[in-house]
Amino acid sequence: MSKEHRVLTGITTTGVPHLGNLVGAVLPAIKASEQKNTLSFLFLADYHSLIKNSDSNLRHQSSFDIAACWLACGLDPKKIIFYRQSDIPHIFELAWILSCLASKGLLNRAHAYKSATSDNEAKKMQDIDKGINMGLFNYPVLMAADILMFKADYVPVGQDQKQHIEMTRDIALKFNHYYGDILTPPEAVIDKDTGILPGIDGRKMSKSYENTIPIFSEEDALRKVIMKIQTNSLEPGEPKDPSDCNIFSIYKAISPNQKINDLQKLYEEGVAWGQAKKVLFEELNSFLKPFRDEYNKIIKDRSFVEKTLIEGSEKALSVSGPIIKEVRKAIGIKGF
Ligand code: TRP
Repeated sequence: MSKEHRVLTGITTTGVPHLGNLVGAVLPAIKASEQKNTLSFLFLADYHSLIKNSDSNLRHQSSFDIAACWLACGLDPKKIIFYRQSDIPHIFELAWILSCLASKGLLNRAHAYKSATSDNEAKKMQDIDKGINMGLFNYPVLMAADILMFKADYVPVGQDQKQHIEMTRDIALKFNHYYGDILTPPEAVIDKDTGILPGIDGRKMSKSYENTIPIFSEEDALRKVIMKIQTNSLEPGEPKDPSDCNIFSIYKAISPNQKINDLQKLYEEGVAWGQAKKVLFEELNSFLKPFRDEYNKIIKDRSFVEKTLIEGSEKALSVSGPIIKEVRKAIGIKGF
C-alpha cells in the first residue's frame, strides 16, 4: 500500500463563507478529504485573526460561525481531523523555532508585508513600516508552522497563498539542512477554478466587493439577492448568450448537466431575465436548503461544536506531539 498522504489546510476565521467559497473551496475540500490513502487536516486559523482584528467578541463569534458552517456543509469529523489552531500549543513552539531559521529578507518579500509597506510609500510616509505589526510580518512563519507541525504533504490553497507555501518549503529545507531530515517540504495544490464564480454584479464573488450570495439566508432574503443579479438589457423574446451571463454561470456551478442544457434552451428561445432568475432561485434554494437546515440545527447546539473541536484537537495533538519531540531533540533542546 502506498504511503498515506497528509493534506492540510487552514481557514481564516473571518466572515462566514458565501456561495463562491462553498462551491470553490468548502465542498471540494470536503470531497477531497474523503479520498483513500489520505489523512486530512482542516483547522480554524484563529490565531491568524489577531493580525487584523482586535475585537475579541468578533473573533470568538467568527470561529464558532465558521466551524458551524463547515460542519453544516458536510464535513465529517470522523474522516477529517478538524481542530482549532489555538488548541495546539506545539504550533506556536514550532513557529518560534522556525522564525530563528527564516531569514528576514525572505519575509521582507512576502506579499502581505510588501503591499502594506508600498501603501505607506504611496502615502509618502517617512516610516514605511508605520502601523505594521510583527504579526503581519511573521505571518508566513506561523503558516509554515501550521503546515510543518503535521508533516503535511499537500496544502490546497488559493493562488494568493502560493508564495506562503514556497516559503514554507524554503524554511523546511533550511531546518533539515541544519538538523537532519525531519520536516516535510509541502506542495501547494492550487485549484484553477477556485474563485471564478461571478457575484451578483458580474465581478468575482468576493466579500470585499459586497456582491456575494450568502449560503444560509432564509428563502425570502435569498430570493431578493437573486433578483438583484445584474444582466444586460435584452428584452424577453430576444435570444440570449449563456456564456456571458451571471445568472447562467451561477446556475451552472450548482446544477446537474441536464438542467444546464434545459436552461441553455430557454436562453436560445429568449427567456425573460425575470424568468431566468426565478429558475436560478428555485434551483439554488433547493441546493442550499439541506445546508441551511443543518446550520440552523447546529447553531442551536454550541456544545456539539465545542465537543467536536476538542475531539479533533485530541487527534491533532496525537500527531503533533511526537513530531515536536523529534524536533526538540534534533535542535538539542532535551533533558540532560
Ligand atoms: N493564510 C490562509 C488564508 O488566508 C489560511 C491559513 C493559515 C492556511 N494557515 C494555513 C492555509 C496553513 C493553509 C495552510 O487563506
